[in-house]
Amino acid sequence: MQSFLRWVGLVILETFRLNILLTGGLGYVGSHVAVVLTEAGHQVTILDNLSNCKHAVLDRLTKILGKEPTFIKGDVRETSLVESILKTHSIDSVVHFAGLKSVGESVLDPMLYYNNNLIGAISVLKAMQLCRVKKFVFSSSATVYGSPQYLPIDEMHPLNPESPYGKTKLQIELILRDLVASDSGWKVVALRYFNPVGAHDSGLIGEEPNGTPNNLMPYISQVAIGALKRLKIFGSDYETLDGTGIRDYIHVMDLAEGHQAALEYLSEPSEPLSIINLGTGYGCSVLDLLKLYEIASSRRIPFEVTERRPGDIASCYANADKAFKRMGWKSKRSLKNMCEDSWKWQMSQALKK
Ligand SMILES: NC(=O)c1ccc[n+]([C@@H]2O[C@H](COP(=O)([O-])OP(=O)(O)OC[C@H]3O[C@@H](n4cnc5c(N)ncnc54)[C@H](O)[C@@H]3O)[C@@H](O)[C@H]2O)c1
Repeated sequence: MQSFLRWVGLVILETFRLNILLTGGLGYVGSHVAVVLTEAGHQVTILDNLSNCKHAVLDRLTKILGKEPTFIKGDVRETSLVESILKTHSIDSVVHFAGLKSVGESVLDPMLYYNNNLIGAISVLKAMQLCRVKKFVFSSSATVYGSPQYLPIDEMHPLNPESPYGKTKLQIELILRDLVASDSGWKVVALRYFNPVGAHDSGLIGEEPNGTPNNLMPYISQVAIGALKRLKIFGSDYETLDGTGIRDYIHVMDLAEGHQAALEYLSEPSEPLSIINLGTGYGCSVLDLLKLYEIASSRRIPFEVTERRPGDIASCYANADKAFKRMGWKSKRSLKNMCEDSWKWQMSQALKK
């Protein structure tokens, strides 16, 4: 009887097991998604050109998972390489993270962003088309909304990305719209992330920015550890409770679980293209995040208030109802968890140095 039940279990597992290609899967978000999907019983293959991550992430994933994920070093713009990976690994779904993500850098060098992000996405979709692999999850961004016209921001909010980076995300969404209209076989989910922060609770993987961080939490964590002197708060005269900017921070593991939900949603009868916010639905101010981080790290975090940055906005947070209605997903982890896990990751990094 027991062996029969084991056999039934294996058959069920095989039936629901997906072979998933994660482009950019050694990066911050992709590596956490690799953990969640592998632990859910799926087979992941990672393609990354290592332009914004370290090969060591593979070893850390191996430690967490107890087995090494399949990894191929290469560029998504090499369509024949993507095509051969899709065939060799019998891929049935692709999650496309690979891309450059710095708003400031994209303003200084737009062609770098159009080349990498747009050509990269077109190349992956072309390879998928050639191999008849038609399930696609895309890492989009809340930057496609531009300056909020109302809050919380739902998926019907007007689209007005202000940077070349944001424009590449919107342009890829528009390509996806045309693609699904041209061929009913495609099933696509574009996930508009708000502000992913935190790390896996093992402290083994997390966000590793090159140079001075652009984002708030990595900046705070580097001040807490002593690598940076003090946090610069850009403006304390916004129309918010404490005058500092409010954003929707989401734990990267919640975000990762959102990708699992999206892939499962693609396997059900669903609309050809779903565009879905991944956020918590709650805003947190810079000062509140700072205080929570001080508690998590048991350290004082010096800061100074400077001028507002051009283009910054007072508040931005998601309406996350659609993610729950369509995919049954909502965020579970608190801001306290985000700070604690980020600090654990920061400490483990410091120990390595
Ligand atoms: N982290 C965020 O705050 C955030 C917010 C919204 C959207 N996103 C999007 O989510 C995706 C993942 O973000 P992340 O934070 O993990 O970024 P990341 O830079 O940590 O990861 C991206 C990975 O893609 C790889 N890559 C880049 N170009 C490539 C190419 N041409 N071929 C192969 N690999 C390539 C990089 O080496 C890196 O490992 C990106 O598309 C980003 O724009 C991120």
